Order: sequence, then C-alpha cells, then structure tokens
Amino acid sequence: MTSTTSLPLADPALAELITGRLALVEERLRDAVAQADALADTASRHLVNAGGKRLRPMLTLIAAQLGDGQRPEVVDAAVVVELTHLATLYHDDVMDSAPLRRGAPAAHEVWGNSVAILTGDLLFARASATVAGLGPEAVRIQASAFERLCLGQLHETVGPQGGEDAIAHYLRVLADKTGSLIATSARFGAMFAGCPPHVVRLLTEYGEKVGVAFQLADDVIDLSASGADTGKTPGTDLRERVATMPVLLLRARAARPDALESDRELVALLDSDLSADVDLDRAVLGLRGHDVVAETRALAVQWAHEAVAELAPLPAGVVKDALLSFTDALVDRAS
Ligand code: IPE
Ligand code: IPE
Ligand code: MG
Ligand code: MG
Repeated sequence: MTSTTSLPLADPALAELITGRLALVEERLRDAVAQADALADTASRHLVNAGGKRLRPMLTLIAAQLGDGQRPEVVDAAVVVELTHLATLYHDDVMDSAPLRRGAPAAHEVWGNSVAILTGDLLFARASATVAGLGPEAVRIQASAFERLCLGQLHETVGPQGGEDAIAHYLRVLADKTGSLIATSARFGAMFAGCPPHVVRLLTEYGEKVGVAFQLADDVIDLSASGADTGKTPGTDLRERVATMPVLLLRARAARPDALESDRELVALLDSDLSADVDLDRAVLGLRGHDVVAETRALAVQWAHEAVAELAPLPAGVVKDALLSFTDALVDRAS
C-alpha cells in the first residue's frame, strides 16, 4: 500500500515536520483502537495495521501549519478524522461486499458481517470519545460530518428519486459521503491551530471540493488493472451495482436516441449477471477503455481546480504549496 509520507511535500523542513507529527498520530491511533476484549481488539486493529494512506490526518496536519500547528489538539483532531474514516471502511465493505481493503481481506470476510459492523461501531465510539476532549464545537462538527456520511451512503444505496438527475444526485452523494469528512479534516486543522474564521471557512470549502475530486478518482480506481496497487478488488462497484461516475456517464450516452450500438451493448453487459469473474472482467475492460473514464478524470480535475481556487486568499508559501501538491496527489493517484 502507498504510505502517506510518499506524498509530495516539496519543502524538506515541512515534510520532516509533517512526517514527525504523523508518527505521533499513528501512535495515538493505535492506542485509541485498543480493546480489552481479544476479538474486539484484533478486529479493531485489522485495518489500522493493514496500512492506508492517512490522507485525512495528513490534511489536518498540513492545514494546521497555517496557524500554530504544534498545539496538541491538532494531533487529537487528526486521530478523530482517521478513526471516523476507519469506521466507515468496515461498514462500507459490508455494504459493497468488498473482498479486499488495504490489501488485506475485508473484516467481514474474516469475521462475518456482524463483527465487521460492530467493529465499525466500536471505532465510531472511540472517535466520539476522542473528539469529546476537543470540546462541544468539535463534537457538533464531527457529528454533522458523520450524519452527512450516513446520508451519502443511504442516498447512494437508494439512487435518484422522482425524476432527479442521476449525475447531480451522484455529485451530492460524493460530497456527503466523502467531501464531508475531508472538509472536516481541513477545518479541524485550521481551527485547532487557532487560524482566523475566514481561513477556517476557506479550508472547509477546499476540503469539501477536493473530497469530491478524490471520490471521482476513486471511481476510476475501481476500474484499475489490478488490486496490487489499490489494495482493493477491481470491479467491486460494478459487481455490486454501486453507481459510479463512469457508469452514469455511459448510461446517459446510451440513453440518447443517436447512441452508439457499442455503448448500448456495454450497458446491457453491466446490467447482466456479473457474478462470474469472466463476465466481470469483460465489463471492467469495456469500461476501462471507454471515453467516459477520461471524462470522469476530467471532472475530478475540474473539482480539484475549484478546490484550489478556494485557497486563493491564502498567502503564498510552503503551506499553500503543500496544499497544492496534496490536491494533485489526491486526484492523480493509483491507490
Ligand atoms: C477510501 O478512502 C474510501 C473513500 C472515501 C474513497 P482512502 O482511499 O483514503 O482509503 P485509505 O485510508 O487510504 O485506505
Ligand atoms: C467509501 O466509498 C466509503 C465512504 C466514503 C463512506 P466507496 O465504496 O466508494 O469507496 P471504496 O472504493 O470502497 O474505498
Ligand atoms: Mg466501497
Ligand atoms: Mg461504497
């Protein structure tokens, strides 16, 4: 799995500082997930130990450099966002029937759905316990991100209702299920480093938009050639019929009166039984080579540009540069 520290941070002093703070986050994370019960402990550590990019804590730490990044609350806040994220991964893999996560078998594959769901709940509980130490405003912000996350997952599951445009609906799903927590990560960093309200606000807006760009890049990753880089099983979304941007764009094309026959056929394949690996492979291959993938990437780049535009009022310097590199790394990634 890709490690966080491989993300490009051009300034060596800043890179060293963030790496040191991330090591502290890592230590705190491991303490925060520990349980006295043996099964709860093993299941809770499973995904922390499997790796992951730690992008959300990294964003909190970088954003905090716009103020007093050395404050201890910043590390707690970084732990809260990763714990919240971790919890969602346990639940998401149950919902998506995903076999692999962070290169390891998903928790439900090892212990079954009930244990995976309860472990996610335990991690949410630990996130709550940690955020409580940061005060009522932080609790409210985390609760609101958590609520949006659940609603995003819910709306993804039920799909657009009553003539709602499928793509507009999906972009709202992405903002809710992913943008909300990435926005919180950036917001917490600025907030606990004592930045002025306008800086906290613009980082929140940045995080929300970069989160959508990040999730659009994730949709392309589901079509990647192998799970070796991604730590996930290619085609998981297709098999489980989870809507993704490439599929929605293809469906929109195929619904036009002048649609290409090949697009209609690909939609028919996506709608057929994909439980056999050979059929899923054909679907992944068909979609991977299609223009809708480039269109999805272009949309991700567009959202990333809009995210970066939010940063315009920040003074030029190494922290702003780090946020720009972070944005590029989120969109142009293989895992
Ligand atoms: C995966 O997030 C879930 C999404 C919101 C796309 P990451 O890609 O940040 O997963 P890890 O933490 O690196 O495993
Ligand atoms: C990730 O969503 C879960 C949340 C954001 C809550 P996805 O299902 O799209 O992400 P992956 O591809 O499994 O990581
Ligand atoms: Mg998933
Ligand atoms: Mg999902």
